[in-house]
Amino acid sequence: MTSAQPSPAWIANKQVLITGATSGIGRAAALELASRGAQLNVIARDQAKARALADEIAQISNSTSVRFFHADLADLDEVRTVAKTIGSELGPIDILVNNAGVAARWPRVTTEGRDEMLTANYLGPFVLTHLLLDQVLAASPARIVITGSEAHRMTGPFDAERFEHLGQYSGLAAQLAYGRTKLLDILFADELAARLAGTGVTVNSFCPGLVSTGLTRDVPGADRLGRLLSATPLIRTPKQGARMLIHLAADAEVDGVTGRFWTSTPGLGLLPAVAARRHPAVAERVYRRTCDLVGIKELTA
Ligand SMILES: NC(=O)c1ccc[n+]([C@@H]2O[C@H](COP(=O)([O-])OP(=O)(O)OC[C@H]3O[C@@H](n4cnc5c(N)ncnc54)[C@H](OP(=O)(O)O)[C@@H]3O)[C@@H](O)[C@H]2O)c1
Repeated sequence: MTSAQPSPAWIANKQVLITGATSGIGRAAALELASRGAQLNVIARDQAKARALADEIAQISNSTSVRFFHADLADLDEVRTVAKTIGSELGPIDILVNNAGVAARWPRVTTEGRDEMLTANYLGPFVLTHLLLDQVLAASPARIVITGSEAHRMTGPFDAERFEHLGQYSGLAAQLAYGRTKLLDILFADELAARLAGTGVTVNSFCPGLVSTGLTRDVPGADRLGRLLSATPLIRTPKQGARMLIHLAADAEVDGVTGRFWTSTPGLGLLPAVAARRHPAVAERVYRRTCDLVGIKELTA
């Protein structure tokens, strides 16, 4: 990875639409992208946090505007509504970053009867991406970046015919359930990249490494422990964790590169892809079933 060399010319004035920018990795990435001159558009569920981000960005860049769109990604009606608003208020989208995510310790069910973590991490971003695709295609060459995780390697048995049934989970099973949502994100990136081949829109997923953020805010003491450990090489600060996202979103050298999962952890790139990613039929089947589950028209290659 060579993100140490910023490419301000490439990202300057590009329209970036990012989720999960009110905290952690996404917030650090948003600040850096703004400082490089990107025009930022943020989908957030918390208006106060979004305003605080906009204020902070205004202090570091007077050439960057920040537009805020409200949606809870765990609510598919809100996702459809925000996509409509973005469709009427924003033109072509050069870089779409699906970064928001949660690591739930136990299941919560949405008003639509879906697992909240599955919806926030996977189904919501899946719907959002499809509904915004025309705007991304209109900006071609354009990029879609999806925050995955090395946790996708720990899912327990994966069944493409039942992936949405996370069931009851807590403790280790909660980590496996989170890992499954991240595997789904990465399979989506793989499949979308294949279906968008030749359009000029690239799709890549990545893992930021182990980063001290709000992700484990539900775990008693984890926040403080994470901050302490981020002073050691064991855990990264959000700024360090954002490097790969910034690289994939902003560096000219990844122009045209698509369909890859990028890890930020030295050595892990040598690991073979997990079984579900070695057989493209799995990503295809998961993609089709997800379209059926959320009522999205399948994108044909
Ligand atoms: N931290 C790690 O070690 C690590 C490792 C691998 C991958 N990741 C991935 O990195 C991404 C960013 O997480 P983070 O570590 O930076 O955690 P974080 O500090 O908790 O940030 C998560 C972001 O996602 C937003 N979000 C969560 N649920 C949402 C929903 N239903 N609707 C809209 N926005 C929602 C949060 O909004 P609020 O501010 O409103 O809560 C926040 O902006 C996630 O996809 C995570 O899975 C993290």
